[in-house]
Amino acid sequence: MKSPSIQAIVLAAGKSTRFNTGRTKLLERLCGQEMILYTTKLLESLNLPTTLVLGYEADAIKKIVTAHHPALTIAHQEEQKGTGHALMCSQTLWHADHLLVMNGDMPLVTESIIEELITKHTESNADVSFVVSHCDHPVAAGYGRVIETNGKIKIIEEKDLKTAATESCCINAGIYIFKKSFAQDFLSTLQTENASNEYYLTDLIEKANNVITIQAPFDTIRGINTLKELWSAEQIKRAELISMWMERGVRFFAAQAAHVDVNVSIGKGTVISYGAHIINGTVLGANCVIEPFAVIDNCTLSESVIVYSHSVLRDSTIESNAQIGPFAHIRGKSIIKQTAVVGNFVELKATSLGVASKAKHLAYLGDARIGEHANIGAGTITCNHNGISKNQTTIEDFAYIGSNSTLIAPVTIGKNAYTAAGSVITKQVPADSLAIARAYQINKEGYAAKLRKKFAQGEDKPKDTGNETEQVSFVGALKTHNDSALSGNT
Ligand code: UD1
Ligand code: CA
Repeated sequence: MKSPSIQAIVLAAGKSTRFNTGRTKLLERLCGQEMILYTTKLLESLNLPTTLVLGYEADAIKKIVTAHHPALTIAHQEEQKGTGHALMCSQTLWHADHLLVMNGDMPLVTESIIEELITKHTESNADVSFVVSHCDHPVAAGYGRVIETNGKIKIIEEKDLKTAATESCCINAGIYIFKKSFAQDFLSTLQTENASNEYYLTDLIEKANNVITIQAPFDTIRGINTLKELWSAEQIKRAELISMWMERGVRFFAAQAAHVDVNVSIGKGTVISYGAHIINGTVLGANCVIEPFAVIDNCTLSESVIVYSHSVLRDSTIESNAQIGPFAHIRGKSIIKQTAVVGNFVELKATSLGVASKAKHLAYLGDARIGEHANIGAGTITCNHNGISKNQTTIEDFAYIGSNSTLIAPVTIGKNAYTAAGSVITKQVPADSLAIARAYQINKEGYAAKLRKKFAQGEDKPKDTGNETEQVSFVGALKTHNDSALSGNT
């Protein structure tokens, strides 16, 4: 059979009133992808030239869609007067013999439904072919009902149903193929005498002599009019994705509570735990372990990486056998090299941590290049920002950064060098050396008892001398003993 010339027209101009968010529903994401892109990508995979009818928030939708489909054409429906009117607005762009028209709010449709509709339409030479589904009330609420009387098929919108809505459980899915000649002849005959005062596309059906339908499971043709319906559809999509990864050898603990976006990839043998979010183009290698509540957003992880619970990783690369977290924050195109370890309450921003290097506790490493086998002590801070600009810190191979070191960037810590704990490092530290930059310790033997006596006598409290207040403080008392600073807490 000669393949027919078909073009697709997607109706996407509506106001999304029932969403009640004030924004178009078509840019809401399901599993990380905008609703409208499910439809446009499906049509592209079927090689159907596509026209999108836009109106409400047209510019925002156009920007997203044309970034993915530069060849797609746009028709404008300035005023939203119904689905029939939306199709009228595309008329100048009709070029094929048949028009595949579908709603833009049905992201779960599969290729096989469209293929079957095209095949049946072509075989039957119908004026109109469309998809129906059988479902129970109240699931059918809001859908147009497909009614057949004396061999004549028509669609009645729920608002216009005279009989009880429960009487018909055959619903209109919102996917149609019209012969162009039929649409040209009858589109202009649509009227707005109905409950919504709109031009209903569905009123075309009863004007056709030769109509055929195909059936599809309700879950594949769900239309999304409300946030609740979006939630239901996303659950279906998420379950579909997780099942697919399970078939490919990914173990999910508590799959019902894991979230996986449509555009991620997960290697065999990887384990994903409760509440983990694997999103936004993330690639996970084989045999990784992702513990509960980890968020991995736009990252690439090689094989056998462990991400302990409550870690947040964004826009970064983690090489094989590295360990992250718990409670780590990696962002800004950081690179964690093989077998490196980032421990709890450590933040890395635009930093590379070399092979086998470790930053195991409580550190901020920003704009830093850290070599191999370096050790970053607890409490280390790279002071990368001076209020105006960002500066680099370089820590070379095998360097050992003592706890609570403050590294004032730009600064370089040479290979094998040490910084003493508590140092404020402002100058370059040469390779193989020890940098100490802190106050020396003075021990005043036997002084503890003296202090206690002073405190007991209240000498550390302010004294009222009558005409002025004299401050006799703990520090003041110490000053008499040439001690410059002392602090303490109990
Ligand atoms: C429509 C069908 C209904 C079917 C259901 C399937 C009509 C009259 N009714 O109802 O029979 O069961 O889909 O989900 O077609 N749009 C425009 N311009 C407009 C109005 C809508 O482009 O003026 C677009 C919307 O953006 C949306 C699509 O058309 O993508 C469908 O509109 P919607 O309001 O969701 O129709 P339903 O009430 O769901
Ligand atoms: Ca709808």
